[in-house]
Amino acid sequence: MDLTRRRFLAAAPVAFTGTLGAGSLLAALEAHSRALPDLSSWDAVRAQFALDPAWAHFASFFIASHPAPVRDAIEAWRSAMDRDPFQVIEAGMFEEESKNVPLKVQGAIAKYIGGRAEDVALTRSTTEGLALIYHGLPLRAGDEIVVTTHDHYSHHESIRLANERSGATERRIKLYDDAKDATLDSLVSNLLAGIGPKTRVVGLTWVHSSTGMRLPIREMAKALKDQHPDVLLVLDGVHGIGAVDETIATMGPDYIAAGTHKWMFAPRGTGMLWSNADGWARLRPTVPNFTDWESYNAWAEERPVKGPNIAARVAPGGFHAFEHQWAMSAAFEMHEAMGRARVANRIAELNTRIKQQLAGHPKIRVHTPESPALSAGLVAFEIDGVKPEDIVKRLREQKIVASTSPYAVTYARLAGSLVNTPEEVDRAAQAVVRLAG
Ligand SMILES: Cc1ncc(COP(=O)(O)O)c(C=O)c1O
Repeated sequence: MDLTRRRFLAAAPVAFTGTLGAGSLLAALEAHSRALPDLSSWDAVRAQFALDPAWAHFASFFIASHPAPVRDAIEAWRSAMDRDPFQVIEAGMFEEESKNVPLKVQGAIAKYIGGRAEDVALTRSTTEGLALIYHGLPLRAGDEIVVTTHDHYSHHESIRLANERSGATERRIKLYDDAKDATLDSLVSNLLAGIGPKTRVVGLTWVHSSTGMRLPIREMAKALKDQHPDVLLVLDGVHGIGAVDETIATMGPDYIAAGTHKWMFAPRGTGMLWSNADGWARLRPTVPNFTDWESYNAWAEERPVKGPNIAARVAPGGFHAFEHQWAMSAAFEMHEAMGRARVANRIAELNTRIKQQLAGHPKIRVHTPESPALSAGLVAFEIDGVKPEDIVKRLREQKIVASTSPYAVTYARLAGSLVNTPEEVDRAAQAVVRLAG
């Protein structure tokens, strides 16, 4: 049966004329791929953001402010879609492979993470990616997932909801009592000590938003695989991607879920899921996809889907906010232009500067490890006698945006990022010191 992409979801197929739709698509693509601005200085990078200059923004990791290249890309796609939604989206999704926009986005992500475009599934968030992994793994009663006490609500809940269906169980282990005292060896040995005979999957978080701890994932993945080659490793990578100099597709986990709307500055409501061919083959899709032609053909021909599972079958289908999803590449290209190592060094430098100013004060307890190798863009701390939410309130009175960590044990957080200057860092850190008295 000769089914073309045109028939995918088109209720009444219309011949693609290559006029308005193609014109709009090309115009949007062109606007979207405009030369990047000068990003050679941190002032030039900061100038890309439309953040309110009256405030010092130390919670940018929560959700991104779109930088100019991303705003421009969204606007280019939005206006093309508003002019002719059918033809632009039809051409971008279901026509020729060479013009397929999700594939181009996957290509930009793959380049940045050191992997293959076909191994990237586009999602809307870390949360969605984690749910797709845990619901897709072939687990059953008697199997166990080991996760840590340091992971986010989205991670624990993805496991709980998936286990309710599969009958698998979950066990939580602690990798440290206080993050600041942890070492590479203690992290690796606590992980290995937590693996039991029924453990099939381990869930970790690259950078803990509770404490600012950055796990040495390469070393932990290697140690795990050396001793337990059949145990799968799932990673929540959201606070590492865009903040740490890594080719994450080569780090060792079997599955990595990450929102790209935090450190990557991609549009709000975007994320990615990565695995390799074996990992994808093992996973069962949860949401019908709009990206794998074979899935559609099998449905139309009322037959089973042929071949192993692939990323394109796991990427959730349905129509999305495509102007956001398709503008993701602008953010990855911007990061490439800024340089992964340069970005990571700047973030480490700013956060080290915060830690150095808080260190040694008798009433301030910094929980984030001092070492840049075990930390990234967050500094979590307490002030004796002041509740974390009150710290945030008092800083807000001084036009400093800080946050608290949304965990059972809560700390105040300052996150130095590319939108901050060293002077702002000093102002925020000194405000904390004054608060401590
Ligand atoms: C460690 C961690 N994982 C997951 C999330 C949720 O991220 P997303 O909005 O991409 O689902 C957060 C939240 O900010 C987080 O801190």
